[in-house]
Amino acid sequence: MLKLEKIEKAAELIRTAKYAVAFTGAGISVESGIPPFRGANGLWNKHDPIFVEIEYFHKKPLESWKKIKHVFYDMFDQAQPNPAHIALAKMEKRGFIESIITQNIDNLHQKAGSKYVYELHGTSRTLSCIECSTEYELNFVDLNFLPPTCYICKGILKPDIVFFNEKIPAFALKRSTEESLKADVFIIIGTNAEVLPAADIPVKAKENGAIIIEINIQESHFTDTITDVFIKGKASEIMEKIATYLYL
Ligand code: APR
Repeated sequence: MLKLEKIEKAAELIRTAKYAVAFTGAGISVESGIPPFRGANGLWNKHDPIFVEIEYFHKKPLESWKKIKHVFYDMFDQAQPNPAHIALAKMEKRGFIESIITQNIDNLHQKAGSKYVYELHGTSRTLSCIECSTEYELNFVDLNFLPPTCYICKGILKPDIVFFNEKIPAFALKRSTEESLKADVFIIIGTNAEVLPAADIPVKAKENGAIIIEINIQESHFTDTITDVFIKGKASEIMEKIATYLYL
């Protein structure tokens, strides 16, 4: 099938779906200037991921924070949603998709206007005190002084992103699982989903009968296993075309 035919087919599947859900990873934000985790330009190729291991954070909060600020906050601050985030937000508004399950922590789906976003790996938008659990919006925290501390108890603040060896937020996991089981069309965009339990969610959707659409610049381990319609290409380019077919 030609690429355009596949895009048209995907749009038709989304248009006629009873309950379409999107599942996104780092690839959807690449065209917003945020690097992915794996591959030649991947973050884990340039930085030792030890700085987001929870044990290291507790042992060396300042060292960890210097990297966190550089890798996540300095970069994410300027990033804006790209046409793929915007297409998904419009699709939600018009009732073509119900929700987004994301592994991203960059807040770009919300910036684009999406309302039902389940963040499996947390968010960089809020921070919590490791002593008293008080939560802070990023705007209230001065990252010029590291490590940032709690106004109430002076405990160290940790971004609400899921570190390695930390548990996935229970609410996000519960809702993501529920959404994947309700979905009759499931759209995977820009992810290798190599980490559990996120990697299992599209599989659950498939086992429950959902049709799987996948958009990626290259094949992932989903492509030959669960994907029904694979569209090779950049998320923004493909999503913009799908949105056009949906008259968005
Ligand atoms: N459009 C579509 N897909 C793209 C694009 C693009 N412009 N650029 C890259 N990709 C694809 C890559 O081919 C790859 O399949 O996006 C995927 C990015 O994969 P990863 O870097 O592994 O990111 P992700 O799958 O989101 O990682 C999952 O791993 O380390 C953890 O917690 C981290 O949430 C992250 C999780």
